[in-house]
Amino acid sequence: MELYIDTANLDEIKQAHDLGVLDGVTTNPTLIAKEGVDYGKRLADICKIVSGPVSAEVISTKFDGMMAEGESHAKIAPNIVVKLPCTVDGLKACRAMADRGVRTNLTLCFQPLQALMVAKAGAFLVSPFIGRLDDISQDGMQLIRDIRTIFDNYGLKTKILAASIRHTTHLLQCALAGADVATCPFSVIKQCMSHPLTDAGLEKFLADYKKAFG
Ligand code: E4P
Repeated sequence: MELYIDTANLDEIKQAHDLGVLDGVTTNPTLIAKEGVDYGKRLADICKIVSGPVSAEVISTKFDGMMAEGESHAKIAPNIVVKLPCTVDGLKACRAMADRGVRTNLTLCFQPLQALMVAKAGAFLVSPFIGRLDDISQDGMQLIRDIRTIFDNYGLKTKILAASIRHTTHLLQCALAGADVATCPFSVIKQCMSHPLTDAGLEKFLADYKKAFG
């Protein structure tokens, strides 16, 4: 499973990149706004750190605006992936961009048929949001499993990018369900290497070493 970081914070991106396990970055307007920086410049700065796919979201809701914004985002760097919403206009823009060789990430996917449609329209990635479905008492993980089944049934090549991941249990379940990619906050990436028995074992090894060898 590929691992992306879900942030627009350069320090977190650098730290995750230095771990050697980072395959890409997802951003959204909320994440970039939180940083209080210029939208396009921040995307360009992220692309200087990470060579894998970097998702750059459009804010237009109509086809023409999406195409214009997508074209401008795609010029930032070759690894930019244009992020479009799972709407009717987003679907149309997805097909048009695929025909022009521009990679897309279809975001805000909350039901399996949205994923089927955007895969048919040539999306490079589709982003089902697990945490936000859990928030309204639906089963976010079931969405990942359903999309996996549909894509496997028909040999659809669009990658399933599990998004809105809140904790390591989500991440583990994504790996078991066969998500192609998972995007997580930096805190979740770090938690993957955490276990109390690792800490306790390390503490004892160091104490025993000190006792015997000073
Ligand atoms: C993915 O691309 C989105 O930016 C993200 O995962 C949304 O997560 P949230 O529900 O925690 O805002």
